[in-house]
Amino acid sequence: MVILQACSLRSLQAPGSNRETSLKAAAEKLGLSIGVAVDATQLSKNSRYARIVREEFSSIVPENASKLDALLPKDSTYSFDQTDAIVAFARENKLSVHGHTLVWHRQIPNWISAKKRSSQEASKLLRNHISTVMSRYAKDIGSWDVLNEAVAARGGLHKSYWLESIGSSYIPNVFRWARNANSTAKLYYNENDIGISSRVGSKNESNSSHNYRRLVNKSEATYRLLKKLLANGVPLDGIGLQMHIRPRYTPSLEQLKLTLKRFASLGLDIRISELDVSLDIPVTEEKLLLQAEIYSEVFEACLSEPRCKSINIWGLSDAHSWVPVVFKNLDKATIFAADLQKKPAYFSILKTLNEWCQKHAADSPRCAN
Ligand code: XIL
Repeated sequence: MVILQACSLRSLQAPGSNRETSLKAAAEKLGLSIGVAVDATQLSKNSRYARIVREEFSSIVPENASKLDALLPKDSTYSFDQTDAIVAFARENKLSVHGHTLVWHRQIPNWISAKKRSSQEASKLLRNHISTVMSRYAKDIGSWDVLNEAVAARGGLHKSYWLESIGSSYIPNVFRWARNANSTAKLYYNENDIGISSRVGSKNESNSSHNYRRLVNKSEATYRLLKKLLANGVPLDGIGLQMHIRPRYTPSLEQLKLTLKRFASLGLDIRISELDVSLDIPVTEEKLLLQAEIYSEVFEACLSEPRCKSINIWGLSDAHSWVPVVFKNLDKATIFAADLQKKPAYFSILKTLNEWCQKHAADSPRCAN
């Protein structure tokens, strides 16, 4: 994957001439939106958190606030407070909002998942949900993860309450219901572990290893699913590649570029939707520098693909990241430290953005102006 070059934090931080000083300004010049997953309570109670979101990012994604269990915690009465607060913050600060996520096999409230429903009943529930939420935020949320993680690791469909109740027709149907609810919103399919779609040089892992084959299979299965949906006229505008990665399991720059090109060839827009780079504990300065290079490579891959429109970091800082909560031996996955100081990854991304047109003026449509 990434070879650690002799780069130091000081060289990453070195100021250049005519350089933008925020991620947002540097990315916008290249036609790239940069976003972050946020929490409503932090936005309202933590002024430093809110300031960084406002100054460094052009877009926000509710990390948990718009999932089914947050919106419908107890019964069919909606609890919109947190999503409302996130949308209000975005409006005040002229940020865009990407909605996450209307349909998923996880974070379904118990009152829904514990009850067996006929295909008709489950379809009605899901259709109403999609329509209620998309209509309420029609003015404020211009793009949605309609369906999240429907493909299983081995390539079939992921087990889910919706698959069991409705059958596989739930997949095209949720996109049709979403289009009916809002005719202009951009509709995304979002998936994890699909960054490697082809057998090209992986430096850290043999191309024949079990894990490598599994990743290729999953990416290919996702590609085939989306191709079929599009061939059947299902309304779908884009694909989100989550990219929760670790140094050992990171696609090479070449692999990632090919994967993005492959999905773009379907006529889809691309989001890197949930980027974070987890490190094995204990975290050292060397690992933080390697992490910085990996972040930069993901940005380079996206910048190389004209249809890659947006990159989103999953959590503002290491104190607000899901990684140490969920994975016992992993930590420090974001670009701001727990005390909200900028990490090497932050500086390395800024440098990559600022230097893009110096290096690619001749071959990148992003540098046309
Ligand atoms: C995670 C959140 O970050 C956690 O706070 C929560 O406990 C579980 O979900 N893929 C997704 C995201 O699509 O919604 C998940 O977010 C991370 C994996």
